[in-house]
Amino acid sequence: MIVDNYNRVHNYLRISLTDNCNLRCFYCMPEEEYAFTAASQLMQKDEIETLAKIFVSLGVNKIRLTGGEPLVRKDAAEIITTLSRLPVKLTITTNGSRLHEFVDTLEQAGVRSLNISLDTLQAEKFQLITRRNQFEKIYDNIQLLLKKDFHVKVNMVVMKGLNDNEINDFVEWTKDQPVHVRFIEFMPFAGNWWTSNKVFPMQQMLNVIKEKYEVVRLQDEKHDTAKGYMVPGHLGTFAVISTMSAPFCSGCNRMRLTADGKMKNCLFSEKETDLLSALRRGEDVVPLIHQSVKAKAKELGGQFTADFEHLHAEDIHNRSMITIGG
Ligand code: 5AD
Ligand code: SF4
Repeated sequence: MIVDNYNRVHNYLRISLTDNCNLRCFYCMPEEEYAFTAASQLMQKDEIETLAKIFVSLGVNKIRLTGGEPLVRKDAAEIITTLSRLPVKLTITTNGSRLHEFVDTLEQAGVRSLNISLDTLQAEKFQLITRRNQFEKIYDNIQLLLKKDFHVKVNMVVMKGLNDNEINDFVEWTKDQPVHVRFIEFMPFAGNWWTSNKVFPMQQMLNVIKEKYEVVRLQDEKHDTAKGYMVPGHLGTFAVISTMSAPFCSGCNRMRLTADGKMKNCLFSEKETDLLSALRRGEDVVPLIHQSVKAKAKELGGQFTADFEHLHAEDIHNRSMITIGG
């Protein structure tokens, strides 16, 4: 078992397959001309498998593939297939643009649930946020997956003044389709234009929704990062991920592996542990994994608190989101 100093058992690993992406969301990728990590510095397919197996032997039973955009990696399908043979619940977070090419692979691999990032239901605003024109493709792919009975969660990063006026459009979407919308509070990362006044906190989201809908609180699972709700009679549900205003670190079971093989014990951790180099040198990475988790801070990487109004993004030492992997 992998246990930290606060008795939190860590059984969930998020593996970033690449820091490459075919979109350019401004809050994730700092520059249009971003230099992606060279392929030789990325974990190779067999290295991912080896590291995943080590984590599984230590008690990991859930793996999520992230990016960048995991499905732009050339051998993504092979990696999905390989990891699906491990005794884990395998899931994926994707921007959705390539899902049509992966439906069969996902079905065969037994992936039944996936998270798709979509911050707006308006094609023009999508172009503004992502600097790419892919709204229709992604929306169609969501429809395709729903038709195939996948459990589809839609991640919407809510940014004040940009898309907070669409919150109820997303809730309305849950009326006739079984989509599970997750409203995410905007979080600060290196170079992502975050300022505290762009955060639209959970309480305000709920106020906006309750003005229009009757809502029922759903029961959370132990490690849920999202607080779930539904409108009675709607086919789908919605949830709020309140990282900034009400962090949920006390139930954290998550570890991350960046695409270049560095382990992070928290999304906001400053320190990283280089598992890939150790693996390539033929060293035992198990002690490194335990050390990393033992050094995990109680909350938010030890870098800030829920009092985010006074936070300045420059004070947080971290990678940009694209190089961490959501
Ligand atoms: N704040 C909140 N969520 C973010 N994501 C990326 N950057 C941020 C941020 N700054 C989301 C993506 C994706 C998930 C992995 O994390 O939209 O859905
Ligand atoms: Fe790509 Fe997702 Fe980052 Fe947007 S948020 S640039 S889709 S990795």
